[in-house]
Amino acid sequence: MDHRQHGEERPRPGRVSGPGRGVPAIGLLVALCAARAVSYLPGPSTGDTSAGDTSASFAPSDAVETMGGFADESRCIECHAELTEFFSETGHARTLIPATHPDSLAALQMESGSSEPVPGLQLEVLPDGVLARHIVGDQTPDRSDSQLLLQWCFGSGDHARTWAGTLTDSRGTTDLVEFRQTHYHAIDGFDITPGQPVSPDGYFQELGMLYDRPKARRCFACHSTRVMFPDGRLDESSLQPGVTCQRCHGRRQAHVESAGQITDSFWKTATQLESVNRCGQCHRRADEQKPDEISPDNPDIVRFQPVGLIQSACFTRSPEMTCMTCHDPHKPLSAQNSLGIWQCTQCHDGTPDGPVQCAAGHRQDCLRCHMPRVRQRKPIDFTDHWIRIRKANEIPDPAPSQAGEKVD
Ligand code: HEC
Ligand code: HEC
Ligand code: HEC
Ligand code: HEC
Ligand code: HEC
Ligand code: HEC
Ligand code: HEC
Repeated sequence: MDHRQHGEERPRPGRVSGPGRGVPAIGLLVALCAARAVSYLPGPSTGDTSAGDTSASFAPSDAVETMGGFADESRCIECHAELTEFFSETGHARTLIPATHPDSLAALQMESGSSEPVPGLQLEVLPDGVLARHIVGDQTPDRSDSQLLLQWCFGSGDHARTWAGTLTDSRGTTDLVEFRQTHYHAIDGFDITPGQPVSPDGYFQELGMLYDRPKARRCFACHSTRVMFPDGRLDESSLQPGVTCQRCHGRRQAHVESAGQITDSFWKTATQLESVNRCGQCHRRADEQKPDEISPDNPDIVRFQPVGLIQSACFTRSPEMTCMTCHDPHKPLSAQNSLGIWQCTQCHDGTPDGPVQCAAGHRQDCLRCHMPRVRQRKPIDFTDHWIRIRKANEIPDPAPSQAGEKVD
């Protein structure tokens, strides 16, 4: 059949190799410097609290909650300069930062040290977080006002940011209060955090919602590279926020010490589904959904890219398609010309033995009809990764950012 199943005459799809991913260097360099301090937090040298787990084989779900074998990620740059160059610009690297980080303060509009992002909610920067007060009655803060110290900012802001504070409960374990307000990039403003009730309830009322430790742990597990909860208490010294190298590549101390001799074959040998499911650890796997939820009529699943992708004929009928066919995890989306058509023409390129071309005769703008952006209930758009033929009434009007070339 085609080169994708036999032979290697042409570069295999399955690796991002499209054109136009040149990056304007200056803007990025500036941003890179600003972000690096956060995305390359040096690994702490505290002891391994999970000495029993010395397995060299890599399972990210272990990696995130054990200490042993982690390398200082600033070392990766020495030998992998090209792959690390733009990494700190990715959503992954920036997805969890302290609430006092300048990017978080900017989203909270706190340039002056305090702000009132929505009426009745006053924010003030303190050394270890942002104090949120819900002012009842007149504008003077008093003791009856509920307050919450926001310590963490989840989300890079490419879509949205949500803040959270941690609390120690009576058993000494860490709970999490998720802030009621989320900052949405699309509207450059605040609205209620997804999943929180329209009418506030519970002790924190206007400030947010309390999550118990298992849920708190899950938030950190998907938004960081390493985090530990000894006795249920968040150990901040173990926390490496953001999804960085060793979240996807496993613990690398042995690799660094052996100057790259000790390697991990996971990504080279993974089957198509193993590969997608590894990304699906956080982006969600299809087998985590109830079968009746997986339907083109359920817009909620567009948030879960692996779920849609593996339903697509492109996936089931090309043995090599994975997430990396269209994404380079080492670069931000903005550096991948991600709205072009090169993703599609890697395969639908008109060669007689390749997959068919568009039966409606189109040679441009593939995403709009086959992989459109879908607006969620909250002002966030997701790209529907279930690549398929849609009826005319399912095709959204061209969104400004998909109508032509990407502007930024
Ligand atoms: C540890 C959890 C985790 C894993 C594993 C993971 N992701 Fe993500 N991914 C995230 C989070 C969290 C975000 C949101 C980033 C933000 O805040 O904008 C994200 C965002 C993204 C984005 C869009 C934002 C950007 O600029 O990068 C892409 C594309 C993506 N992931 C692809 C992948 C692929 C491909 C894999 C597997 C190779 C993968 N992810 C594995 C958690 C993960
Ligand atoms: C199973 C893994 C997982 C868990 C648990 C999780 N997240 Fe996420 N989160 C993600 C991924 C993946 C994305 C990126 C979604 C995308 O862009 O496709 C994300 C995105 C976000 C965003 C950015 C908005 C967006 O949709 O891109 C915020 C804010 C966020 N998460 C906060 C939280 C908070 C707070 C918790 C705990 C209450 C939490 N997350 C729990 C995986 C997870
Ligand atoms: C979201 C997951 C993810 C993150 C984060 C990530 N990588 Fe990767 N990396 C991958 C995947 C998947 C591949 C395999 C790509 C392929 O098969 O085309 C890969 C491949 C590589 C390779 C082999 C390249 C080659 O051409 O064979 C190196 C080296 C590497 N990554 C280093 C890093 C470093 C250093 C970082 C941190 C700066 C990092 N990666 C962050 C997912 C990730
Ligand atoms: C002293 C040099 C050196 C340092 C430091 C280094 N690497 Fe490597 N790395 C190599 C070499 C050499 C290879 C190629 C090995 C091969 O393919 O046989 C490699 C290959 C890889 C690969 C692809 C093969 C595999 O094992 O998955 C990944 C991923 C990778 N390195 C990640 C990292 C990360 C993450 C860091 C930082 C924690 C890092 N490397 C630090 C030299 C280094
Ligand atoms: C056929 C190409 C293709 C494949 C394969 C693919 N993506 Fe995407 N992905 C895209 C396009 C196109 C976008 C929109 C890019 C943009 O908005 O800049 C996108 C956007 C995303 C985003 C940003 C949020 C959103 O939904 O818009 C995430 C996260 C993401 N992809 C994750 C994944 C994961 C995980 C996989 C593997 C299960 C995957 N993608 C496979 C083409 C692809
Ligand atoms: C890795 C190769 C590959 C890539 C990349 C790819 N496709 Fe496909 N696609 C296929 C194969 C194989 C089929 C099955 C049809 C065939 O065998 O001729 C298919 C089928 C389709 C179909 C028909 C779906 C159906 O249910 O009948 C559409 C529409 C489509 N692709 C659009 C796209 C678009 C749009 C993109 C880019 C976002 C894309 N494809 C990227 C390989 C690919
Ligand atoms: C304006 C909407 C639109 C655009 C743009 C578009 N398509 Fe299509 N495509 C369709 C429709 C409608 C069909 C179904 C036609 C039919 O069955 O008669 C289709 C069918 C297909 C099929 C299935 C062909 C078959 O014989 O089963 C593939 C593959 C495909 N398109 C790929 C692409 C690619 C690749 C691009 C970009 C180069 C693209 N399309 C752009 C609307 C569009």
